[in-house]
Amino acid sequence: MKPFNLNRNLAQLALLQRIELADDKLKKVRKIFGRYLFSKIFSKYLIDVQKISENYLDVMIKELNTINKFIVGKKFFLSIGGGIGGLELLILRSITNSHVSFIEKDYVSNKVKYGWDNLNKEAYNNLNQLNFFLESNEISKERYKIFDSDKNNFPTNKFDVIFSIYSLDYHYDFQIYSDYLKKVMKKESILIFDTIRPKFFENIFESIKIIKEDLNTVHKSKRIACTGFK
Ligand SMILES: C[S@@+](CC[C@H](N)C(=O)[O-])C[C@H]1O[C@@H](n2cnc3c(N)ncnc32)[C@H](O)[C@@H]1O
Repeated sequence: MKPFNLNRNLAQLALLQRIELADDKLKKVRKIFGRYLFSKIFSKYLIDVQKISENYLDVMIKELNTINKFIVGKKFFLSIGGGIGGLELLILRSITNSHVSFIEKDYVSNKVKYGWDNLNKEAYNNLNQLNFFLESNEISKERYKIFDSDKNNFPTNKFDVIFSIYSLDYHYDFQIYSDYLKKVMKKESILIFDTIRPKFFENIFESIKIIKEDLNTVHKSKRIACTGFK
């Protein structure tokens, strides 16, 4: 597998989006100095960029394996909260002619927290960096488009697969995107996301399937694949 090409800024974002990339020393530093200093300084200057790049690739390959069977032969993808785009890069590399639209936030919270956020104010991304990641990993501009979730200009085409890995209904309410998703899903479109309340979605979709369970984490979430928005 071709390695990811991350610089320090990207490695910092990947770490904020995926705290499991931190080694024990870094986790200790976060505990001692608090989330503000960690988010602003230590996550950038106390990291081994090469190591984060390698670990991020491993984590993204594992994520790809959880959704692989749903994406084979599909063309139009929407990623909600894709972070710096590692999983999406793997999809673009593996499926010729595929296209990914991203809806993401364009700021990093002062103190990155990983809980449920009713106001949906928590964010850990930078859209220029997301663009740079795809560009510097040799993805041509025609194959992706990035939309700021705080601006009202979302893509209106129908998607084959929509996914939101540890974002929609994991950090903020599904309701935020519910009307929009109804518009951009066809009958056969598949929506994949992580949630702690899979049962709730049985009334919203015609079919839901649990495709991954995270029982050892604080959130104890399940990844579900849904079709047929009722
Ligand atoms: C835990 S990270 C996961 C990133 C990536 N999906 C991954 O698996 O590594 C959650 C992401 O959701 C983004 N986010 C938060 N609120 C959002 C919203 N309303 N719309 C889209 N993305 C959002 C954050 O900026 C962050 O990049």
